[in-house]
Amino acid sequence: MSKSIPVVRSVQALRNVVKGWREEGHSVGLVPTMGALHHGHLSLVRAIAEKADRIIVSIFVNPTQFGEGEDFDKYPRTETEDRKKLASTPASLVFAPNAREMYPSGFASKVNVGGISERLEGALRPGHFDGVATVVSKLLLQAMPDVAIFGEKDYQQLAVIRRFVSDLNIPVEIMGGTLIREADGLAASSRNAYLTDQERQVAATFNIALNELTAKVQNGTDIRQAEKEACEALLSAGFLSVDYVAVVDPESLEPLDRLDRNARVLAVARIGGVRLLDNMAINKA
Ligand code: PAJ
Repeated sequence: MSKSIPVVRSVQALRNVVKGWREEGHSVGLVPTMGALHHGHLSLVRAIAEKADRIIVSIFVNPTQFGEGEDFDKYPRTETEDRKKLASTPASLVFAPNAREMYPSGFASKVNVGGISERLEGALRPGHFDGVATVVSKLLLQAMPDVAIFGEKDYQQLAVIRRFVSDLNIPVEIMGGTLIREADGLAASSRNAYLTDQERQVAATFNIALNELTAKVQNGTDIRQAEKEACEALLSAGFLSVDYVAVVDPESLEPLDRLDRNARVLAVARIGGVRLLDNMAINKA
């Protein structure tokens, strides 16, 4: 029989468990999530197990990172299934606070990260990274882990988190987890569940378009031209619109004009009512 993962819902209960682990000499890892867990999330739990012998998975659909008109209300909430999935991973504890525990009445603070969080996703979703940075700061201070892991699926989010953890001297190691894909190449995401079968087929071309862009850029095609051709390929495959396809410096996320170093392409395209994110490394030959 699979073990059952214990859950705590208050910061105090979380701290009590962590205190016990510390007294026994354990190292502690944190995997922040919004639930609706898939194999991408589970890969983070397995990866952090190499660095921590007690692992907390937080599940909290964070209202402050959703903008008006976004999918906060319909975001999938599947805690029972999530806990079952975690039973076959090295996870030790689920932390699933409610909104009142995270944002008690009178809550008035936010963590705002300049520069890196103002481009790309930040420009299109005002306030989004404030919400992410605020809730991740809280989770880190609540759990006080040695290490926390975030997926490269949300590449800009990982860069923003590295930035404020360093700026604020938060004593935690931030690990990046490899982007996990479905068999057809689509990046695994809780939001893929919103896609119809037909949209799902179109969505699989996202990865192909980014692979093609990568090959072109590596073969010397002008970067702006390769970005434009990738947008056109996505639209003709059936995407409704493309928010951006941007070849950038992998750390600063500044746009690159030529492949004079390793780069990253970050892209967001829409299909049905769904925004899909993908990204890929473009290594300098
Ligand atoms: P969520 O979208 O649930 O993702 C939780 C973590 O899983 C993030 O670090 C994300 O990058 C990672 N992840 C999602 N899909 C992945 C994939 N296909 N491969 C690898 N990693 C993947 O990201 C959030 O929640 C929130 O913004 C959060 C950080 C929890 C703050 O609320």
